[in-house]
This record gives sequence, structure tokens and C-alpha cells, in this order.
Amino acid sequence: KEVSWDIEAASKEGFDHFMLKEIYQQPEAIRNTIERRLDETGRIQLNEINFTKAEINAIDKVYIVACGTAYHAGLVGKQVLKNALQVEVIADIGSEFRYSDPFIDQNTLVIIVSQSGETADTLASLREAKSKGARILSITNVVGSSIARESDHLLYTWAGPEIAVASTKAYTTQLVAFYLLGLYLGRLKETIADNTYQARLNELKSIAKSVEHVIENSIEPAKAIAEKIIDCNSLFYLGRGLDYYSALEASLKLKELSYIHAEAFAAGELKHGTIALIEAGTPVIVIATQSKTYDKTISNIKSVKARGAYVIGITTSDHKDIEQVCDKAIYIDNKQDIYMPIISVILPQLIAYYTSIFKGNDVDKPRNLAKSVTVE
Ligand code: G6P
Repeated sequence: KEVSWDIEAASKEGFDHFMLKEIYQQPEAIRNTIERRLDETGRIQLNEINFTKAEINAIDKVYIVACGTAYHAGLVGKQVLKNALQVEVIADIGSEFRYSDPFIDQNTLVIIVSQSGETADTLASLREAKSKGARILSITNVVGSSIARESDHLLYTWAGPEIAVASTKAYTTQLVAFYLLGLYLGRLKETIADNTYQARLNELKSIAKSVEHVIENSIEPAKAIAEKIIDCNSLFYLGRGLDYYSALEASLKLKELSYIHAEAFAAGELKHGTIALIEAGTPVIVIATQSKTYDKTISNIKSVKARGAYVIGITTSDHKDIEQVCDKAIYIDNKQDIYMPIISVILPQLIAYYTSIFKGNDVDKPRNLAKSVTVE
């Protein structure tokens, strides 16, 4: 009898789609990205990053350049590195950076983020920055890619191959890479005290477990939300600070997979125009995990609710008061604020996944999109 088997189905390892498999691989990918960087004393060692203390002290500006999902990781990275290096950090998209007359000299560090290491706009930005004398540090998932080869310093994510066009595990491991980098460079520059370093590193090591937990707890809510929003014309994700960056990634996931118009807004900016778009029943998903802005976000929720929005709040379990202002509240694990972007993106990934498959879309290969864009 002839043995036949489908290689594609086999490599999905029982999952219906690569995207779902890759969502489930996130805890392992996060663990790999961290554990391969710890030395025998449990401290972070980044072998392909070789700044001396004098070199890191000389850096007076950092640009982070990337496209798509990698850019959203870069936005979180901006906050992480600002805290760690105590210098100005600017995040920009690859297709804009080169045309924005950036101020670059030998004291500028340019961080390039790219899953594939081949995105044309990102690679062109790297070359431009290098020609102006900047030091180049890249965060990429593909060993030996063009971006990896042309960089001075390297930090690989250990996500493993990402097949689905919409990025999930590459994104969360890019976030981890920024956290490792922040702690490492902060220690080198002595902006982070030893006890803070240990506490943050311990918390980082516990993230994979929380991600596992959040995935399990998000499946049913994601399906229910997907059913609810499947026929809407437009949806808004809101957040402030780091939650705004998660909202940007959440809305990108939803539009690329479900083809529903979705936008992210900084919740405090709504009143300056966007609130005109809110009608009775407009779905609004609010990410509210940052303690600095939590109360302000609640006021922003009240104002969309007063205009008839259907509001879903995503927050941590110590914020049960959100139920008074939302139609639906979903609680996720509570970690230090700086780490919440990893935790808060999981439910939106699953909402995008289920909305896409409920609509009958090709979730692994959405229309008009490519995994790696090698044209400018
Ligand atoms: C494409 C993909 C996105 C990805 C972006 C950047 O548009 O569809 O998922 O975020 O490229 O890709 P990179 O490989 O540079 O991270």
C-alpha cells in the first residue's frame, strides 16, 4: 500500500493553521530567546554585542528602524532603551526614515528590527545609517540574513521559522530581545542598580509561563469577540503609552487577517477628532494595563461609552473596577508594567485569528500580503 502524507499538514503538528501553531509556540520561543543568553551565574550574556563601557557611554542618540509588526516591537523597545540608556530614542518606519533627514553621526546607535532580515526598506535604512557612520545593532530571526550580515552588533530572536504571514512569535521574541538588551546595556552603563536588574530579570524569566496561561484563557473570549465583531465595518483599539503600542499591533493583526477596518488610537487623543467616528454599537477594545495612565484611560472609556460604543476592556485582575464602565472585561496576568506588551498582545492575536477563520479567509496567507517584502 502506498504511503502518502502531506508535509504541510505534518509540519502544522496537529494545528489547523501555522498561525495558531505559532501562537502556541510563543512560550517556548520566549524561553529560548532568554535562556540561551544566560551565563552560569544567571546573568545576561549577549555574545554578538560587543560594546565597551566607553562606547556605550558615548552613544547620545538611538534610532530604531523597522517595518510592520517589527516597528511595533521597536516602539516598545524605544521606551525600554530610553529607561536603560537615559538618552533620546526615536522609532521610525523603514520607508520613512531615510527621507526624514535623520541626524546621524558616529555617536548614534541605529537598531534595526526585522524578522526576516531581508525587508527592503529596513535594509536600505541600515545601509544609509551605516554610510553616515552610525553603529548598527540588529534584532533578527534569520541567521545569516542580509541584515544580520551587514550589522556591527547582533541579537537573534530564537522564535524558530515563522510561516504564517502575520507575525506572532517573532513579535513577542523581539520584545524579549529589547528587554534583554535594555537590562544588559543598562548594567553596562550602570543606569540600572544590581537589585533592580535581578528583580527585572526574574520577572522576565517568568513571562513565558504567563503567556502560556494567557493563551489558554484567551481561546474562548477570542472566539466570542470574533463572533461579535465579524460583521462590523470598523473597530477601534485604544490604549495609552505602552498600551497604545499594543493597540497598534492589535489593530494591524485584525485588519491584515479579517479585512475589517481597524485603527488604534492613543486614548487621550480621541477627543481631538476621532471620537466623531464613534456610533451606537461601534466596537472599541481598550487595553488598560499601565498604572500611570489607568485612571485616565477609564475616563476615556466613559467618553466612548457615552457615545454608544460597545466597549471591551483588557486589563489585569487587580482592576475589577473596569467592569463598571465596559460591556465586557477580560483579565490577563499581571506583570511589571514594562512587560505588559507581551501579555496584552496575545488575546488580540487570537481575536484576529478567529475573526479571519470565521470569515473563511486564508489566515496563513492573507490577500495582498507577503511574508517578506523585498521591494521598496
Ligand atoms: C511584511 C509582513 C509583516 C512584517 C513586515 C516586516 O509586511 O507581512 O508581518 O511585520 O513585513 O517584516 P520583517 O521581516 O522585516 O520583520
